[in-house]
Amino acid sequence: MQERVAAISSTLNRYPDREFTALRNLLADYLSGVLRREGRPTALQAPVPSSISPDMIWAANGSNEVLFHILQAYAGPGRSALGFGPSYSMHPLIAQSTGADWIEVPRGADFAITVDHAVDAVRTHSPDVVFLCTPNNPTGNSTPLEVIEAVYDATDGIVIVDEAYAEFAGPDFRTALSLLPGRPRLVVSRTMSKAFAFAGARLGYAAADPGLVDGLRLVRMPYHLSSLTQAAAEAALAHPDSLLAGVQELSRQRDRMVAGLREHGFDVVASDANFVLFRGVADPALLWTRLVEKGVLIRDVGIPGSLRVNAGTDAETTAFLTAMAEILSTHPDTLGRSPQ
Ligand SMILES: Cc1ncc(COP(=O)(O)O)c(C=O)c1O
Repeated sequence: MQERVAAISSTLNRYPDREFTALRNLLADYLSGVLRREGRPTALQAPVPSSISPDMIWAANGSNEVLFHILQAYAGPGRSALGFGPSYSMHPLIAQSTGADWIEVPRGADFAITVDHAVDAVRTHSPDVVFLCTPNNPTGNSTPLEVIEAVYDATDGIVIVDEAYAEFAGPDFRTALSLLPGRPRLVVSRTMSKAFAFAGARLGYAAADPGLVDGLRLVRMPYHLSSLTQAAAEAALAHPDSLLAGVQELSRQRDRMVAGLREHGFDVVASDANFVLFRGVADPALLWTRLVEKGVLIRDVGIPGSLRVNAGTDAETTAFLTAMAEILSTHPDTLGRSPQ
């Protein structure tokens, strides 16, 4: 990356390639590789694409900007966007910032979204855009492809599948990329911020029908992706294995935390992401403070009776589980009843 960025530094007097052609090709190759490795989803009859072509790719400064482009193009004043909460807090903010109305439909038991529930919500509200975040932030659970297919069939609007955490998912996870053929209103959004450990570079991307991608050209600022961003991301994508090297270890640490928290008696949501949501916390703010006092910082995401902890290094997991054990032994009342 340093070499690539140094090499273009003498050409920064020029505007970047506004079509980010080289980067687009590499992102298409990466996603085609994801599809090849995953193989055919067993439950689906639909044709599965063998590859993602470069004209199906969009990229921007983080997937937040990708989502903003999609909402600017396809939502806006007089239109509405629907999401299943709790989910990523930026979805409503991005939708509303384009002037669209936000409709939040609560998830079901264990934060799952079922076909009936989702279809009913979409038919009731007739939104112009539907968000499905899978694996979901902040709960960590995934949504089956059957639900995404059913939502797509139940709406005339755009369906955005936010797969920011897909690389951390277990073997049962299926990417919605396989649903793209024949579904011109479906967008699958991803990011290099998480699995690629590339958050500072700001590179999010999406795959969709070339016609939908074309609409995004109408709303992006000219030359929105700098030459530096493109060069760094191209170098990263030329070495995906090195950048993704941390994924396995983070997933291992996540699974350690799931097991440790369950042993302590917490109700832990099965996670396909690089974080874990655990329920059954009597007073989340108090537990959060007690952990901070022991030098461990986790997240209170505002879900009653719950806290979210991110996977990190082996030493960090040990520090977290040790701190939890100490807190529980001195304050057994930390463990409360999960709110209904
Ligand atoms: C579900 C989800 N989508 C998108 C994003 C945005 O990530 P970025 O803009 O860094 O690509 C995040 C960041 O936390 C996220 O959790």
